[in-house]
Amino acid sequence: MMSCGEKMKVLITGVAGFIGSNLASRLIKEGHEVIGLDNLAYGLRENIPDGVHFHYLDIRDQSIYRAFEGADAVFHLAAKNCIADCQEDPVETADINVRGTVNVFEAAKRAGVKKIIYAESSALYEGSKVFPTPESEVNPESFYAVSKLASMYFAEAYQRFHGSSTNEPSAMSHQPLNFTALRYFCVYGPVQDYRRTIPPVMSAFIIKLLRGETPIIYGTGEKRRDFVYVEDVNDFHLMCLKDGRTDNRVFNLASGVNYSVNEIYEMVSELLDIHIPPIRKPDLPGEAERTLADIGEATSLDWMPKTDIKTGLLNAIAYIKSEMAKGNI
Ligand SMILES: NC(=O)c1ccc[n+]([C@@H]2O[C@H](COP(=O)([O-])OP(=O)(O)OC[C@H]3O[C@@H](n4cnc5c(N)ncnc54)[C@H](O)[C@@H]3O)[C@@H](O)[C@H]2O)c1
Repeated sequence: MMSCGEKMKVLITGVAGFIGSNLASRLIKEGHEVIGLDNLAYGLRENIPDGVHFHYLDIRDQSIYRAFEGADAVFHLAAKNCIADCQEDPVETADINVRGTVNVFEAAKRAGVKKIIYAESSALYEGSKVFPTPESEVNPESFYAVSKLASMYFAEAYQRFHGSSTNEPSAMSHQPLNFTALRYFCVYGPVQDYRRTIPPVMSAFIIKLLRGETPIIYGTGEKRRDFVYVEDVNDFHLMCLKDGRTDNRVFNLASGVNYSVNEIYEMVSELLDIHIPPIRKPDLPGEAERTLADIGEATSLDWMPKTDIKTGLLNAIAYIKSEMAKGNI
């Protein structure tokens, strides 16, 4: 494990996406070298911060292997991750999220990378009725969630055969590979993807209200989500690079508090001081009624989500206003 002040070479897959681009900005600010991979299937080139050594590559392709050479750590974030799209196309979901993920693990192993931090999801708890939900409650239902579970099993197998506690002869020729699995709940903040057919609720409400249009709420609006601000998530990301207690463990990353879609709508409306009654449309398929994380594992490592929902929303609003001013929205 790296010591606290040491500068590292960090590779991020999915660097043009929401979490990846925010993470790249933070790592560059902290003086680390960042290699970024993305095929721009969902992310945007303009999201990638200056200073990233960017490779336009697909994680399913073996041509990614060279980019991993010399990397100290890998954040694997690239995925097909819109639940509705994954329900439509389970074959591509498996191709990107399972085959692509294994290809990333293999690339890291061959390059002698010491640590992979990779994205699982709160979707792994879709079938659980335990709230707040601890990491042990794995019960996926959707194709997306099942693809994340398959990634988890592959990570466990790589740990078993190539990790620090293995006695396998094949592991002896390699640098031991450690993993940290992150189960993000609803991460929000600047650069969140507002261009999707159905954007995340916060961006959707902010954009519609700023444009003077009528926001849409799917279903009753009583579904509750545990939201966590992207910079709080970045605090944990940085800890994963430095703190050996994160090795070969899984963590919920969330705030431990949830809000309904209706409550979020009211908050956005209040903060903007724009009040347009939303229209209601039929519920979206494959979404859990509520999410609420048990964050005890993560907080036991001196991490605490610090950003209250209003501050986080104000930052998201400022970002969307600046994109509008640039003519991007
Ligand atoms: N944002 C959340 O709240 C949340 C919640 C749970 C889990 N996650 C997981 O966290 C990770 C990052 O999420 P995000 O919100 O930043 O998603 P995002 O869609 O904004 O970013 C994902 C990036 O991966 C890239 N990508 C997709 N397929 C690729 C491929 N085959 N090769 C190379 N690049 C490819 C996309 O172009 C995109 O830039 C994902 O694995 C997601 O499943 C996110």
